[in-house]
Amino acid sequence: MFGSFRRKKVETAPSAVSHIAFIMDGNGRWAKRRGLPREAGHRAGAKTFSRIVEHCIALGIPTVTVYAFSTENWRRPKQEVDAIMELLDRYIEDTFSRYADRDVEVVFLGRRDGLSPSLVEKMERLENESRGRKTRVNIALNYGGRDEIVRAVNRLYEEGKLPCDEQTLSAALDTAGRPDPDVVVRTGGDYRTSNFLLWGSAYAEYFFTGTLWPDFTERELDRILTDYAKRHRRFGGL
Ligand code: IPE
Ligand code: IPE
Ligand code: MG
Repeated sequence: MFGSFRRKKVETAPSAVSHIAFIMDGNGRWAKRRGLPREAGHRAGAKTFSRIVEHCIALGIPTVTVYAFSTENWRRPKQEVDAIMELLDRYIEDTFSRYADRDVEVVFLGRRDGLSPSLVEKMERLENESRGRKTRVNIALNYGGRDEIVRAVNRLYEEGKLPCDEQTLSAALDTAGRPDPDVVVRTGGDYRTSNFLLWGSAYAEYFFTGTLWPDFTERELDRILTDYAKRHRRFGGL
């Protein structure tokens, strides 16, 4: 009897995901299919971003990371880059009130240089106001996985901490203090990391879907999490 009780408990246990990350890709193609400018795809994508982050918080996932703008995305036309920055600015403005009374901490991953001073000021204000809260939302903005590692190594060099071990390097990354991602979801149909969380996702479970980011739903995420629960993570063992 005790044995069956224990088995049942395991079956109904909440998903053991402590960190989920999203490569939010496909906004441009979503717009193109509708005969709209790419900026319209980013506007739709921003709504999906809010919806999906809310869903992850509701599921009780402690850390959620989203890839909003890469160090390589500066190669896009200025008009598109400006539109993305404007959307991020608005998202941050809205977030002050949305998360004011909630246990959500927002942290930005990536380089601050190259971003507008007014955007950086808002990012830092949001980080300061939300610091120490329970659920972490990481927004990767002007982020590159290689850049993150290089900045960490240079900082350790300046602090006289080299040579170092894996733990020390992990602690010097933008993602320090939270567990590595268990799950990385990429929408948009491409099978690549595009320089996202290169260090932390060493043993992440990847999920690739052809769904374009603006069309990504809570239901599809639930299906991914059900699949994740069936995967056997070995971490190099047996
Ligand atoms: C992802 O969508 C958003 C960013 C990279 C900022 P894309 O803009 O890359 O959309 P596609 O891949 O061109 O469809
Ligand atoms: C990855 O998408 C970056 C973000 C989602 C922010 P990209 O559209 O930039 O990736 P590539 O260029 O197709 O590899
Ligand atoms: Mg893309």
